[in-house]
Formats: sequence, structure tokens, C-alpha cells
Amino acid sequence: MRTTAIMNLKGGTGKTVTTINAAAIMARRYGLRVLCIDADSQASLTEFLARGPRDDLVLGGISDLMRGMTARAYPSKLRGVDLLPADESLMAFDIRSFNQEGTDPMALADWLSERAEEYDRVLIDCPPAFSAAAMEALIAADDVVIPLKLDAFGIRGLANIMEQIRNMKRLNSGLSIAGVLPTMYYPDELQSKAEAELRNSLRLSGIRCFRHIRRSNKMDGSTFDQRPLLDYSPKSKSCYEYKLFVHDLLLGGEDDG
Ligand SMILES: Nc1ncnc2c1ncn2[C@@H]1O[C@H](COP(=O)(O)OP(=O)(O)OP(=O)(O)O)[C@@H](O)[C@H]1O
Ligand SMILES: [Mg+2]
Repeated sequence: MRTTAIMNLKGGTGKTVTTINAAAIMARRYGLRVLCIDADSQASLTEFLARGPRDDLVLGGISDLMRGMTARAYPSKLRGVDLLPADESLMAFDIRSFNQEGTDPMALADWLSERAEEYDRVLIDCPPAFSAAAMEALIAADDVVIPLKLDAFGIRGLANIMEQIRNMKRLNSGLSIAGVLPTMYYPDELQSKAEAELRNSLRLSGIRCFRHIRRSNKMDGSTFDQRPLLDYSPKSKSCYEYKLFVHDLLLGGEDDG
């Protein structure tokens, strides 16, 4: 089992759609047993993947786990993909609650290690914040993928998130950065320049930059329809690019510039 946290402290960078589409591709094209974990109180991943109304997920998800209670994964609407759901109550766990009496920083890591034989790949959709659930995710994860929108705020924020991930090595010495995934790319001069500069600076720091995912209106359509690109628009460029991303993530290797 390998666990990847999908993380960026900035909001709206494509963390959730990356989790969904990567999970669908891993299960369908590679036959992997995939578990998706929703670590965000916005619960967008849960909304998308849950088979029925969220109220049907009677036993707790990640928030119950953090309270020391039972949690269970549910089959999602995607074949081969299970879901550990989130709900709004996750908001109650802010960073100050982490490591305090009543919350166990290892809760998710321990729960996952008991299920190591059940899944091949685990993807954790993180919130755009260093919340207690995000800390749990980074303690449980083997590596981190950072979806990044190529704008000035996103690029400036990258150093910060990488620094925070490095700090987490005190609690999880095996944690590594799998790479940065440029998302919502559109091919104009500004974006091409920003991407080239990003690739260059990541190469100097020894961090991988995956091939970009283009901005596409198929993506919004797929979220409205609550179907991954493999089903909603299998011939679209963005579906193809997510397949390349999964291929590169699973195979590892050198920079993809
Ligand atoms: N490649 C893309 N092309 C077009 N739209 C995209 C693309 N990727 C993501 N989006 C859209 O951007 C919005 C934000 O995506 P998403 O929810 O995955 O980001 P997020 O990082 O999970 O956000 P949050 O930080 O709020 O959790 C969604 O409306 C999604 O449909
Ligand atoms: Mg999200």
C-alpha cells in the first residue's frame, strides 16, 4: 500500500479533482484497489464519490477516527474505489486540537496500517489549510503531490507548503514530495514562461514537476455531473493528461518537463 496526500495550502488548485480522476484511472486502467480519504470539512470528495445521500454514511469517517471512535470505508460510486468520508464536524478540529488530549495524531496512520493488505493505493484529499486532519494526512502519507495553479500567488505560496512538508519530517521521517502538478494550465505566453521558470527552479531543488493538466470546461462539466473524466469525457485532453499524470506517479522516475 502506498499513501499519497494531495495537498496545497491554497484553495481551488485542483486537489479534489486530481484525487477523483487519479483514483478512477488507478482503479479502472491499472486494476488497483484504491482508497480515497476525504480530509476536508468541505467534504467535496465525499459529495462526489458517495453512492447515496451523505446521511447514509452512518458510521463515522475521518472525524470519528480523530475522536477515537470507529471509522469505516464505504464502497464509492466508482468500481474499485472505497471512500473514507468527511463531514462538516471536521471543522471542529483546528490545528490547536492536534496532539491534545482526545485527539490522536497517529489515528489515521494507525487505521491505515491495519488495512495495508486491503488497498494498493491511498489518496488523501487535503483541505487548503494546515488543519488537524491535514496533519493526520501528512503523518499517514508516504508522499505528497502538490497541485499548483500557475499564478503569482500560487507560485509564491509553493515555498511555504514545501517548507511545512519538510517540517513534518520530524513526525514522519519517511515523508517525501512526489512532485508538483501544474493544473488549470492554458497555453499562452505568460503561463508557458511561468511553467518554464517553475520547472527550472524545481529541478534545482531536486523536486519533480509532473506534466501539466490543461484548463478545460470538461472539468466543470464532470463535477456537475459527478462523473470522473474517464466516464464524462474520456476523449478529452484533460482526461488524457490525467492518465499521463497517473502513469508518471505510479512509475516514478525523472522530471517530466
Ligand atoms: N483542469 C481544470 N480545468 C478547468 N477547471 C478545473 C480544472 N481543475 C479544476 N477545475 C475547477 O476548479 C475548481 C476547483 O477545483 P477543486 O475543487 O478540485 O480544487 P481544490 O484545490 O480541491 O479546492 P479546495 O482548496 O477548495 O479544496 C472546480 O470548480 C473544478 O471544476
Ligand atoms: Mg478540495
